[in-house]
Amino acid sequence: MRVLIIGAGGHGQVVADILLRMADEGSGAILAGFLDDRGDLLGQTILGAPVLGRIADCKNIRHDTVIVAIGENKTRQRIFKMLQQDGEDFVIAQHPKSIVAPDVRIGAGSMICGGVVLNTAATIGGAVILNTGCTVDHHNYIGSFAHIGPGANLGGEVEIGEGSLVGIGATVMPGKRIGAWSIVGAGALVNRDVPERSVVVGVPARVIKTI
Ligand SMILES: CC(C)(COP(=O)(O)OP(=O)(O)OC[C@H]1O[C@@H](n2cnc3c(N)ncnc32)[C@H](O)[C@@H]1OP(=O)(O)O)[C@@H](O)C(=O)NCCC(=O)NCCS
Repeated sequence: MRVLIIGAGGHGQVVADILLRMADEGSGAILAGFLDDRGDLLGQTILGAPVLGRIADCKNIRHDTVIVAIGENKTRQRIFKMLQQDGEDFVIAQHPKSIVAPDVRIGAGSMICGGVVLNTAATIGGAVILNTGCTVDHHNYIGSFAHIGPGANLGGEVEIGEGSLVGIGATVMPGKRIGAWSIVGAGALVNRDVPERSVVVGVPARVIKTI
């Protein structure tokens, strides 16, 4: 299975590393290479795989599947949808050293980093990032294009709306809901529901602005 990684920045390199670790475990994934719209990366080799061209070159390069490895949620959504319309297949990058309950559903193109714990009956949308060492407890619902930052902890039955970011080390208490396209600041403690398109920070978390 030849995988093209869309985005050759730091995030793309973490995705590449996960795919290589999956290959070590016999996934059959082969890194076809990276695509990136920053021209200066063209021709470089990263983690043994070449930067082959721009995103628009996707259909001209031999591959079986893609993954959009762009950290910014809105941009990841835009490029995912564009490639979806082109009929692309999206691989899930799941680090072998993550703990994922067997009944968890994970949408196409999502990324589960090393050290993540994902508990029973959770549902993860498409093109979601569960970053290094975050924990997502039982019966969570994580909307598509969301990003749960490194070391963040979500209690049971938490709901994260589409496109929202939970910052590094933040905590969301059980049963709380974060509306779509909101941001929970690094280190925040969410003890009440967060409306959509809101930025919250602090312990306890309070709204500082609307997006
Ligand atoms: C919350 C956040 C989005 C705000 O960013 P911003 O809109 O650029 O806001 P500013 O940096 O201008 O900060 C606005 C105010 O909020 C405070 N603030 C910002 N982030 C904060 C945080 N995480 N906790 C507490 N206070 C915070 C600032 O100190 C500032 O306060 P002041 O007005 O009294 O000086 C950002 O700071 C943040 O925490 N992002 C999360 C990043 C992350 O963890 N990403 C994971 C990817 S690996």
